Amino acid sequence: MEITRIRAGELSEQAVDGILAEVLDFDTLINRGSGLGEDFDPLPAEVRRQLSSVNDYLTHTTWIGRLGGMIVAKGLAYLPLSDNIDVADLWCAVHPAYRRQGLGSRLLQVMEEEMRAAGRTRLSSYCELPPTVRDAAPQGAHIAAGSGFGSLPSAQPDVAFLAGRGYSFRQLERCSVARVGGEATGDGPAGADEDPADREDGYVIETWQGPTPEHRLEQIAVLHQKMSTDTPGAAEFGDEEKWDAARVRVLDAERAEKREIVSTALALRGEEAAGFTEVAHFADRPEIGWQGSTLVAREHRGHGLGARLKIANHARLGADSSVERVYTWNAVENTWMLAINDAAGFATWAWVGLWKKNLA
Ligand SMILES: CC(C)(COP(=O)(O)OP(=O)(O)OC[C@H]1O[C@@H](n2cnc3c(N)ncnc32)[C@H](O)[C@@H]1OP(=O)(O)O)[C@@H](O)C(=O)NCCC(=O)NCCS
Repeated sequence: MEITRIRAGELSEQAVDGILAEVLDFDTLINRGSGLGEDFDPLPAEVRRQLSSVNDYLTHTTWIGRLGGMIVAKGLAYLPLSDNIDVADLWCAVHPAYRRQGLGSRLLQVMEEEMRAAGRTRLSSYCELPPTVRDAAPQGAHIAAGSGFGSLPSAQPDVAFLAGRGYSFRQLERCSVARVGGEATGDGPAGADEDPADREDGYVIETWQGPTPEHRLEQIAVLHQKMSTDTPGAAEFGDEEKWDAARVRVLDAERAEKREIVSTALALRGEEAAGFTEVAHFADRPEIGWQGSTLVAREHRGHGLGARLKIANHARLGADSSVERVYTWNAVENTWMLAINDAAGFATWAWVGLWKKNLA
């Protein structure tokens, strides 16, 4: 197998155009084989960005493996640039007809060697299993998550692959999906049509779509920074990120480049940021929403803000977008967040294993 490395930004636009369709076809083939469904098919603007765009905070490296000119394997690394510069999040996939021939191991080895040479020794990866796959062999051997919550069947190809390459299974996440507007029970602390001004606890919820309004950049930066420390298991996968208004602006610009539109609900007490939640959708597939960050700052927990934020944001999505369903990911030990999601009508769609390996 001939492996080519592509660092984001090093190919000309024409060269990216020349391979984009082929890479998309490969990614689509892999996704169709995963059982996760067509909603998870790759989006051209996202793959283009992974191949071509760098900013001060994040870049990507892609590896393409070919046999007889045809793509048979692909690897991708997410590489933070301003903090956590020794971290790399890696993923690789092999064409279904070429598996169990050592190609995955060979590609991952090349990826790891290049990461090590670049000083990136804290590696993470992930695997995604539809519930039918995880539930198929309840009696078989399982690997327990290091978090102490949840397990994955050891015989699954991706589980066996990562475990066999020295990765340690740290955390299990539940990916779940809900229809927007349809099935929310309103059992949370507030209904979708709450008027925050009527409440006596002093919290106000604002919602918007698209880039962060100029006067909210600082609050959103504070909350993104807390996301890197105040969520279950955050310390496992990296150190505190540094966020300021400039970084939020760059994130918004990057989202615009991917044709990604984000709906945000922000909870404020006075001018103090208490929590936020984000749901993204892509102009190229506008009926699907992707839950992004949700956080209530520690000192503001216990006021039902998580549910109020989600319900307000979903109401806004229902009114102002064509999003029909939203996917979300939560650590299984985050029972508080799962309870909020269950109340909002979410049902399990997949199980996601988070893995790490230290090369140091
Ligand atoms: C996981 C994946 C990349 C493995 O690629 P591959 O080329 O088949 O992997 P290899 O041939 O190098 O296998 C290496 C080891 O992984 C384990 N493994 C791989 N596939 C397996 C399977 N179907 N059943 C059990 N173990 C398996 C075995 O230990 C194997 O060693 P062995 O063949 O000597 O027993 C491939 O199945 C794939 O593309 N899956 C979809 C993408 C994905 O899940 N990626 C997550 C990992 S980053």
